[in-house]
Amino acid sequence: MAEFRSNSVEEHFKGKTILVTGATGFLAKIFVEKILRVQPNIKRLYLVVRASNPHVALQRLHSEVFGKKLFKMQREKWGKKFSSFLSEKVVAVAGDVSLHNFGIKDQILIEEIDIIVHSAATTRLDESRIEVLLYVSTAYVSGEAELILEEAFHMGQTLKSPLKLDINLEKKLIEEKLSELKAQNVNERTITSIMKEFGTIRANFHGWSNTYTFTKSMGEMLVTNMKGNLPLIITRPTMMIGTHSQPFPGWVEGVRTIDFVFVEYFKGALTSFVGHPKTTIDLIPADMVINSMIIALLVHSKSNSSNSLVYHIGTSLGNPIKLSDIQDIMHCYMTKEPWLKNSEKSGAFYEKFTFNPSYMEVHEFPQNKRSRLKRIINIYRPYLHFSGIFDDKNTEKLRMAIKGVGSVEREFNFDPNSIDWKDYLMNVHFPGLIKYSMQPKM
Ligand SMILES: NC(=O)c1ccc[n+]([C@@H]2O[C@H](COP(=O)([O-])OP(=O)(O)OC[C@H]3O[C@@H](n4cnc5c(N)ncnc54)[C@H](OP(=O)(O)O)[C@@H]3O)[C@@H](O)[C@H]2O)c1
Repeated sequence: MAEFRSNSVEEHFKGKTILVTGATGFLAKIFVEKILRVQPNIKRLYLVVRASNPHVALQRLHSEVFGKKLFKMQREKWGKKFSSFLSEKVVAVAGDVSLHNFGIKDQILIEEIDIIVHSAATTRLDESRIEVLLYVSTAYVSGEAELILEEAFHMGQTLKSPLKLDINLEKKLIEEKLSELKAQNVNERTITSIMKEFGTIRANFHGWSNTYTFTKSMGEMLVTNMKGNLPLIITRPTMMIGTHSQPFPGWVEGVRTIDFVFVEYFKGALTSFVGHPKTTIDLIPADMVINSMIIALLVHSKSNSSNSLVYHIGTSLGNPIKLSDIQDIMHCYMTKEPWLKNSEKSGAFYEKFTFNPSYMEVHEFPQNKRSRLKRIINIYRPYLHFSGIFDDKNTEKLRMAIKGVGSVEREFNFDPNSIDWKDYLMNVHFPGLIKYSMQPKM
């Protein structure tokens, strides 16, 4: 493992060119912010954005990334020079990760890249000078086990051994189904719904609970298979929630995973949901995921090894929290928060939220919201009943590498033990969720 010094991270990224996909999304924009903050002397960031051309891609970056509150420290630091700093360092690339080379035709751009962060399954990686590839997956690709190890998939593996997974066959089945529906002149909405159902059947057939974890697993297999001699990092975060401390505490975007439950409870629309109170729920602040990714990039770039390593980044082993604790903290917050008390439905707010293993009731919701709720229950049920704990030996080695190293340990903290759950949820995450996701114009 590389020797760390207090300026190792800055030194490492100085003059580097990084290609990032998914920058308009929650996680990758935290990565972009942090890299630009810790090392403004990065050579270039190529940000792949779905758009018809680079101009539209750039517009998307300005409105969906750099215009966000997340970048407030950068705006304060650079003042009027922020735009010219961005023009110098950031290049918007119109692309699509489902296409070969992400749909990027510019060979010079590809040859300039040192590091790729995200999914890169379709890139001809061996042609360029890339030093490390980081693929963001999810911890839930693994099946349920008491202790889930940080093990990579091998090609063709399923969660239902001895079944074999043939990715080409899966692709063919999906394409055939789609052609069949199109030939029958079925409308787009019905096609989407039938295709989702078909995908879920295929995922379940191989042992995955939904298409999300099924496709993420196939992504891992493809990227591992195609990486050639490149060092590969597979980061598997659990459920990401708002930032713990950087660039400031509580930043979050949208309503994802368990935040749905918090938001609906805060609105007075939901007082119970599917889940077992004894379930350990694995939540991880998104900035801690980014910190672990940055340290992993540094360690692997310096390792001179072409190995792949999987990193679970979560809290269920080091600092577990149960749904019953969450119920208590939600109630505590609800009874203390004046903004919520003043809301028109305040009567429901003093009811304690419950996670109920056999929750099926949708009667609490107005008729027009029931089908959405049923869909949401189906999405969340596997996570809120999940009984596995994610082992994080590999991630622990990264933590050990920066332990006691000047400011690095603090600036790139991803130690689950540093989270005081009650304080974090009550004073950081819930207020952040209300501010940025429930009242995003604030
Ligand atoms: N959120 C979580 O709790 C969680 C937990 C574990 C793992 N993860 C993983 O972490 C990663 C980031 O998650 P997130 O929450 O930041 O997701 P997100 O907010 O939904 O963002 C996804 C990003 O991927 C882009 N994207 C999707 N399909 C694309 C395509 N074909 N070509 C180019 N870009 C495409 C989206 O672009 P558009 O803006 O154009 O849609 C968006 O920028 C994902 O790999 C996810 O699986 C997330």
